[in-house]
Amino acid sequence: GKPLIPYDEIGAETLSNLVDAFYARVSAHPQLAPIFPDDLTETARKQKQFLTQYLGGPNIYSAEHGHPRLKARHHPFPITPDRAQAWLECMSEAMDEVGLSGQFRETFFNRLVLTAHHMVNDYDSEE
Ligand code: HEM
Repeated sequence: GKPLIPYDEIGAETLSNLVDAFYARVSAHPQLAPIFPDDLTETARKQKQFLTQYLGGPNIYSAEHGHPRLKARHHPFPITPDRAQAWLECMSEAMDEVGLSGQFRETFFNRLVLTAHHMVNDYDSEE
């Protein structure tokens, strides 16, 4: 039957392709690119580790970096509601590109919506 663990359902290869497709969009996005490093290699590597454990796979992010403390790790960056929306749009397009669909995609995306909104830490700066 269907795997019970979301990480097993998506698989390491599709997850890796998703993250690469996502950061290709981030690096081209006028609201996102300026707050990210120019070289996204290390960012993508960490995001693959993070999403592996977020989806119930091995805790490889925490093994290397400790507790995610995601909101704290985002404090140095001005994350406006517009940027959260842009992040989610890049992710939705990346999901299209790698062919995620159906219930899996909906559930995964809805979790990311909640997490993205939780990252917002700047409610008034102009973009
Ligand atoms: C790191 C922006 C949402 C997971 C970062 C970095 C930026 C950023 C600028 C630093 C990149 C670097 O220095 O390498 C944003 C923006 C978001 C957002 C604008 C909009 C809401 C999220 C969400 C997740 C996430 C929803 C998880 C599902 C991560 C992870 C890192 C990271 C795992 C690496 C942390 C580390 O240094 O260990 N993000 N992020 N981010 N972000 Fe986000």
